Amino acid sequence: MAKKPVRRPKPALRKARSRTDHIGIIGLATMGPALALNFASHGIHVVGWDYDPRLTHAFENRLRPKSGVHLVYQLSELVQLLPKPRTILLMIRSGPPVDSVLTQLYSLLDTGDIVIDGGNSDFKDTERRVTEAGSRGVLYVGCGVSGGEKGALTGPSLMPGGNPEAWPRIKPLLEAVAARGSNGKPCCCWIGPGGAGHFVKTVHNGMEYGMMQVIAEDYDIMRRGLGMTPAEIAQVFEKWNKGRVGSYLLELSAKILHLKDPEKDRPMIDSILDVAGQKGTGIETILAALNLGVSVSIIGTAVAIRLMSKRRGEREQIHDVMKPKRFPLKVASRPKFIEMLGEALHAATLLIFSQGFRQLQAASAEYGWKLPLAEIAQLWTGGCVIRCACLKDIAAAYLREPDLTHLMVADGIREEILRCEDSLAEVIAAAARARIPKLTLSAAHEYLLLMQDTDLPVNLVAAQRDGFGNHGFFRADRMGSGLYHLSLDD
Ligand code: 6PG
Repeated sequence: MAKKPVRRPKPALRKARSRTDHIGIIGLATMGPALALNFASHGIHVVGWDYDPRLTHAFENRLRPKSGVHLVYQLSELVQLLPKPRTILLMIRSGPPVDSVLTQLYSLLDTGDIVIDGGNSDFKDTERRVTEAGSRGVLYVGCGVSGGEKGALTGPSLMPGGNPEAWPRIKPLLEAVAARGSNGKPCCCWIGPGGAGHFVKTVHNGMEYGMMQVIAEDYDIMRRGLGMTPAEIAQVFEKWNKGRVGSYLLELSAKILHLKDPEKDRPMIDSILDVAGQKGTGIETILAALNLGVSVSIIGTAVAIRLMSKRRGEREQIHDVMKPKRFPLKVASRPKFIEMLGEALHAATLLIFSQGFRQLQAASAEYGWKLPLAEIAQLWTGGCVIRCACLKDIAAAYLREPDLTHLMVADGIREEILRCEDSLAEVIAAAARARIPKLTLSAAHEYLLLMQDTDLPVNLVAAQRDGFGNHGFFRADRMGSGLYHLSLDD
């Protein structure tokens, strides 16, 4: 018979019993308090501090008695209250604030203490900090945390990487608060050394941009092309969500499309300006991919669209001058076309994952990280923003073939992309006839076309380069025999 789980004593501030049941949290804006409550609900005692006492005070007012979260107003007090060796989680804005807190912390910490950065830091910064902390005897971890405030409270997806000596000690802490994935296990695994954890989170975010945008484009084609209402589109999304294309972002979009504006008698979506910001991880994904020599062209379009969205004034000016044409979408069968939109979304999503995982694979080889791709796909099946039905198949593909060059060719993924390709092509053509932008869906299809093609017109580009710059080209009939040059008259 299974043993009854032993109930931990209600956490209260007490002397250290075990070093793994205490954690310090620095940063009490949004994610910090949510994670603090999550840790406390698992019997892990939390000591919290924020640079801004108003945030500490606001959180204090929300705390119930015996919450297991103890807040302090001095950083030194946080350090003193934690048993050695300490574990401290930073939930603060990435960039200079992290270095500034670290400078203060290092003068207070002891050898063997662990610092975990749970923000969206640039992986190169994390690489540097792992080394700097190591030279002071501190074990540094860069941990991707996904799931937003709600996920942080109820179970995020966690991507820790950095100093591997820290892992055995932080594993029970992180696994306790992480979401459970499709296999019932914690959505958390050791990603790799250096900046590996933050790199994987960056690529997660890049794919998040892509997935959000392709859902938005499907919505647009139904809304402006087919003239459907937001509530009707929400119903379509709800139906799709039960199938292979199901995802947290689709579910969220359906909820959004059902909302009414409390101030006006119209759907909430119609009161939201078409301008979306970004904190930078999308751009970091693209820059990192370019540096690795791989293409994340689909993700790139989603990032570019956010940039273009911010240029609202320019778009207004161009709109007024050019007076864009729009044509209603004429389709032979509306239900059939809606089904094709779902298939287009499915294909595009798989192609986004193909690019993201290709980038992870390239980074793993370049930096010697040995990224566990199957486990990464698995830990994204729960808790995180990109969780979706197809991640289970992606995890299975990498489990079968850990050295898979490209997800697109994996059994189970390839067939799905090919099954949905015609729908993707047809939806893009229909949207073009209606003059509805669909840049990310198109980029997904173009990526598929291009990667299947062994007869690209890039031979002409190679010839042009040689023609004006004498850069040379390879002969198709003598591969591996070095560079050749054109004989041009002048
Ligand atoms: C997550 C999200 C999150 C993201 C912010 C803002 O996984 O929980 O990716 O970490 O950074 O929601 O993202 P943008 O401002 O870049 O859209």
